[in-house]
Amino acid sequence: MPKITKAVFPIAGLGTRFLPATKASAKEMLPVVDKPLIQYAVEEAYAAGIRQMIFVTGRTKRSVEDHFDTAYELENELERAGKTELLATARSIAPDDMICTYVRQPRALGLGHAVLCARELVGKEAFAVLLADDLMVGEPPVMAQMVQQYSEWRASILAVQDVPREHTKRYGIVSGDTLNEELVDVDGIVEKPAPENAPTTLAVAGRYILTHGIFDELANLPRGVGGEIQLTDGIARLLRREKVFAYRYHGTRYDCGSKLGFLQATVDLGEQHAEVGREFSAWLQARTQD
Ligand code: G1P
Repeated sequence: MPKITKAVFPIAGLGTRFLPATKASAKEMLPVVDKPLIQYAVEEAYAAGIRQMIFVTGRTKRSVEDHFDTAYELENELERAGKTELLATARSIAPDDMICTYVRQPRALGLGHAVLCARELVGKEAFAVLLADDLMVGEPPVMAQMVQQYSEWRASILAVQDVPREHTKRYGIVSGDTLNEELVDVDGIVEKPAPENAPTTLAVAGRYILTHGIFDELANLPRGVGGEIQLTDGIARLLRREKVFAYRYHGTRYDCGSKLGFLQATVDLGEQHAEVGREFSAWLQARTQD
């Protein structure tokens, strides 16, 4: 049975919405409680059975490479100090069976271009794309739900959610025939339409499973506004030749590309945190009663 073995993480974006924090460091390394955004996404892919992680990087992203590398000095230090729990945490970031590869996106030419940069590393198989800005919490994890859908349909799967109509201009918006409560057979997708032009309010979240056919579409796309190659435009072309399904995932999405979403994730995950959750919750409750 064909499996999804590779995940692409486009992380070359400049992160201007989080300036000044992101002036010299990667926005994907911003921690929600104690874990960087990119690690949540990598763990989600790993939990879906994916072992090869492909990062499409740019300048100021070296810390991501270091994060998923072995930190010998740190490990030696923790071992000597007998801090076994912390040692296990440090080691668990990059399990032995996980392979990380890096490819540079030389210029910021859009999400579609970033995915195209991974073409040689992906080869001729379907693959996952995870946008680390979107922190997804689900049980089972959202990518695992999507891999399950892929194994049934053997076609591209887009994670979608309903959004308020006034928010359509933030997302790729899909239209199509509803097959059941979870699935839509997609017949159209547009990037960030104004509310009055949006065909539906079904918005793409930052999780995709795409067949390798997407690469030919992206390679032949005319440049859009600002010379950018949009992933959404590539998918719009792909669905002229292949089935594409939209999947209403079960779970919560935090838009950690925005300050508000980032704060919401921090509060929710802070309250659930094994070490500090209980105390943090009590503190929050006391504050709201003031
Ligand atoms: C990207 C995609 C968009 C998608 C969104 C999900 O937009 O272009 O289609 O709905 O991610 O987060 P961005 O948020 O990078 O502007």
